Amino acid sequence: MYKILTLNNISVKGLKRLPQDRYEIASEFTTPDAILLRSFKMHDMEIPDTVAAIGRAGAGVNNIPVDKMTARGVPVFNAPGANANAVKELVVAGLLMAVRNIYPAMQFAGTLEGDDAKISKEVEAGKKNYVGSELPSKTLGVIGLGAIGVRVANAASALGMKVVGYDPKISVQSAWKLSRKVEQAVSLDHLFSQCDCISVHVPLIDATKGLVNAERIAMMPAGGVIVNLARGGICDDDAVLAALDSGHLQSYVIDFPTGQLLQHKKVISFPHLGASTEEAEENCAIMVADQVREYLEDGTIRNS
Ligand code: MLT
Repeated sequence: MYKILTLNNISVKGLKRLPQDRYEIASEFTTPDAILLRSFKMHDMEIPDTVAAIGRAGAGVNNIPVDKMTARGVPVFNAPGANANAVKELVVAGLLMAVRNIYPAMQFAGTLEGDDAKISKEVEAGKKNYVGSELPSKTLGVIGLGAIGVRVANAASALGMKVVGYDPKISVQSAWKLSRKVEQAVSLDHLFSQCDCISVHVPLIDATKGLVNAERIAMMPAGGVIVNLARGGICDDDAVLAALDSGHLQSYVIDFPTGQLLQHKKVISFPHLGASTEEAEENCAIMVADQVREYLEDGTIRNS
């Protein structure tokens, strides 16, 4: 029997890909054959020598000591694209929340009380504070044209936005095959100078740390929105906060609330919800469970 240690809740549909006659699955094992996880941070964990494979039910693998595992010959499998639709939908929600002032407007509505006539009077007096703007008047810069970035580009385009894309690795020609709506930015600076909304879809690696910095934010037209549902660290938080305070940026949408960002009234933060839909959780779990099973039983490696 193979022993599978789960460090987070993994969708039952994924776990069913590991048949009970050959697999034991539990959240505690001292000598597991493989580990399945979502966002558990493994860097400080003692990883038993028995572990032969690790499966991350998500796209990013920065919570796993991949170099250490590679040196041990242990493949780390992930699920690129499996939650891309869920993330795309939250990007669209974040953009709309920002440009239509949805959260402060809801807070205002929540303070209303009294009879209908009084409420109506207060609504008429207060609503001018929440006048928004529309997406078709804006240009979205998509940084990173992988599974998520291309879907975001298509959705934004369907909503009437002009879309400009940049990816350091994928040529715009190949992204163009997936999304005919993306216009090519010749450089990141070019993208920032044209876009009043930016959405980031790159992993957090040395080359992307602080990629959204003070200089680049200053290149954006005033009143811009930055959406970062990818990872903290890709945007320089101090630079973003300064631009929010000066009014150069209207909103910053994030999926990893931390420190000062949490309290800032122009920050729209979600509690790591990008991939949290039933469909995405199932898709990711199925994709990694299949990969771990194929590796343990046949030595097959795909997508590690
Ligand atoms: C991802 O990297 O795809 C997400 O962090 C997955 C998750 O929310 O578990």
